[in-house]
Amino acid sequence: MGFTASFRGEYDPIEIASRDQVQALQLQRMKWSIAHAYDNVAHYRRKCEAAGVHPQDFRELADLAKFPFTTKQDLRETYPFGMFAVPMNKVVRIHASSGTTGRPTVVGYTRNDIDMWSDVMARSIYAAGGRASDMVHNAYGYGLFTGGLGMHYGAERLGCAVVPMSGGNSEKQVQLIMDFKPDIICATPSYMLALAEEFERQGLDPAQTSLRIGLFGAEPWTNEMRREIETRFRMDAIDVYGLSEVLGPGVAVECIDTKDGPHIWEDHFYPEIIDPVTGEVLPDGELGELVFTTLSKEALPVIRYRTRDLTRLLPGTARPMMRRLDKICGRSDDMLIIRGVNVFPTQIEELILKHAQLAPHYVLEVSREQHLDRLEVLVEPKPEFAQADEAARARAAAELQHHIKSYIGISAQVRVVAPGSIERSVGKAKRVIDKRKK
Ligand code: DLL
Repeated sequence: MGFTASFRGEYDPIEIASRDQVQALQLQRMKWSIAHAYDNVAHYRRKCEAAGVHPQDFRELADLAKFPFTTKQDLRETYPFGMFAVPMNKVVRIHASSGTTGRPTVVGYTRNDIDMWSDVMARSIYAAGGRASDMVHNAYGYGLFTGGLGMHYGAERLGCAVVPMSGGNSEKQVQLIMDFKPDIICATPSYMLALAEEFERQGLDPAQTSLRIGLFGAEPWTNEMRREIETRFRMDAIDVYGLSEVLGPGVAVECIDTKDGPHIWEDHFYPEIIDPVTGEVLPDGELGELVFTTLSKEALPVIRYRTRDLTRLLPGTARPMMRRLDKICGRSDDMLIIRGVNVFPTQIEELILKHAQLAPHYVLEVSREQHLDRLEVLVEPKPEFAQADEAARARAAAELQHHIKSYIGISAQVRVVAPGSIERSVGKAKRVIDKRKK
């Protein structure tokens, strides 16, 4: 693992541009994008008018801060196609993200958008160490979700042979991996662990497959989870980031040589970090909410889209002209507030994975008892500890409970449950059951 280089610039010359050149391109494209949204999306124009700004007020990149944010609420209010900036006869693809409640968020793409998406996705696979000669087993869901088709078009664009497996049917996934011998797999990290279990269930060693690289994303995951996947499969696990409203997968990706957080393809997506409460732009390096402005998208340009993802912007490394995202600690929507302390599922995941006897299959249950929040962590033991007696399980639970208290500062009840009793995800894992909402 870790011997492949991502060879900056070999796939796309933008990757050897200077930071100044990237910024000059951003300025030029952002001017176009803001004007395009203003001229063609009545809802966005009304928001600008209410905020007293006009596209002509945009002269330099810092002027972006004058423009109003776009939120999921804007997409809901204009459901289904009200934020589209082109007539439907220019749209060639529609995706939607289901969300947990209410109407789905609908996104659209022109032919040029699909082309750009394929390009940035191909670039992403290349930076992850993939090459045209590779076979890609794609276990992201095909359908309204952007993961399946987004990866698919990118892998084809790069010249790979794509196996459009989609999510689920783990038995078949294992069979095809064994028989076709793909080099690359694309899946959510939680589903990759479910596949590891399926290999083992069939008496096969996941470390012995042909897989060399995995592109994992669509949900928050920790570096501890990366280590777990890399050890079990003996492969490089690469973080790929994206969201439907901005594009889909391929907005940012880790480079295989550094694996230090996804580099953002800043020639197409302009990032900002804001204070989620005040909306103020924060300097690079500070933790806050990630906001994106698309620079080239035609069908659905988004200006200052609030992702709800919490992270920080770091300087580029393997691609020095593109900034990086620190590992996403979670979405503000998933943040639990337990008796006043903010907790992300990833913080608990980190502690579970550090424990020698616990497996990365867990769910957090939040309830309210006599007006007080109660957090229960249900976690499975590692298979080798599955036979442990009641006392040993209680000890493991007490240890994790203690770590949660000392590292995160909250009192949680930990229950080590029977192996296999926590539902396995096919796509995005559901980590939190909030019973307070009922
Ligand atoms: O999940 C797009 C995607 C597909 C990305 C496949 C990567 C791979 P949505 O369904 O719109 O799009 O969900 C987007 O998922 O705002 C994050 O909260 C989360 N997310 C996506 N990638 C990562 C990642 C796709 N690498 C939402 N790390 C985003 C952490 C991620 N969270």
